[in-house]
Amino acid sequence: MIHVSNLTMRLPSGGRMVTILDGINLDVPEKQFLAVVGPSGSGKTTLLGLLAGLDRPTAGSIRFNGTSLTDLGEDELARLRREKIGVIFQSFHLIPTLTAFENVKVPLELRGDPDADREALRLLDEIGLADRKDHYPVQLSGGEQQRVAIARAFIGRPEFLLADEPTGNLDSANGQRVIDLLLRLHRDRGSTLILVTHDPSLAVHAERIVSLRDGRIVQDEERAPE
Ligand SMILES: Nc1ncnc2c1ncn2[C@@H]1O[C@H](COP(=O)(O)OP(=O)(O)OP(=O)(O)O)[C@@H](O)[C@H]1O
Ligand SMILES: [Mg+2]
Repeated sequence: MIHVSNLTMRLPSGGRMVTILDGINLDVPEKQFLAVVGPSGSGKTTLLGLLAGLDRPTAGSIRFNGTSLTDLGEDELARLRREKIGVIFQSFHLIPTLTAFENVKVPLELRGDPDADREALRLLDEIGLADRKDHYPVQLSGGEQQRVAIARAFIGRPEFLLADEPTGNLDSANGQRVIDLLLRLHRDRGSTLILVTHDPSLAVHAERIVSLRDGRIVQDEERAPE
């Protein structure tokens, strides 16, 4: 369960303070697939960055199963992120000096998990990239890189998956493969999925769609996913 209360983000811009998120209240139940939509500049990425613990809000709070993200010190926050939160970005964010196999393995290696190799190979197989495991990110297509990034996000079995326009840099065929993979892993692993998207073919799969405008929630709709 994610509990967001009065979340507010103000940042200096052009010599004055601008309000980027303006009192967001949002409860996301366990295992829900929630899509966040809204025009460019409405605050979607900012919201995701706060949920991921990458930024600190100006005001308000975020709680994951009762743990207040906003009250944690840096070390505790890093641990919570490592153990419970997986993040997928539009631009993949793979480590260029590591192979696909090594990239997928990172979250488990950081935990000292003895099964890191085996799990990484299993996931690479599951995403259809077993034969590309020793390729570096530059040797992979955009769609392949994003599938590796998704495998890395899922490998630690995080309770919370946060994705920012994961199909934004892909053509429609690759985008569809990434959507299928994300939905399958979400279903199989039972993680809560919060996904920012402009892509209607992705949003239709969500159980709930929250629309942002000017840093506020203007619509919050539960629906039957397709
Ligand atoms: N570090 C920053 N300093 C000042 N303003 C910022 C900063 N980061 C974002 N903004 C502003 O906050 C607003 C929301 O940005 P954000 O990136 O969250 O939008 P978005 O909804 O993700 O847009 P897009 O769909 O284009 O990705 C924008 O007006 C942006 O210019
Ligand atoms: Mg954005």
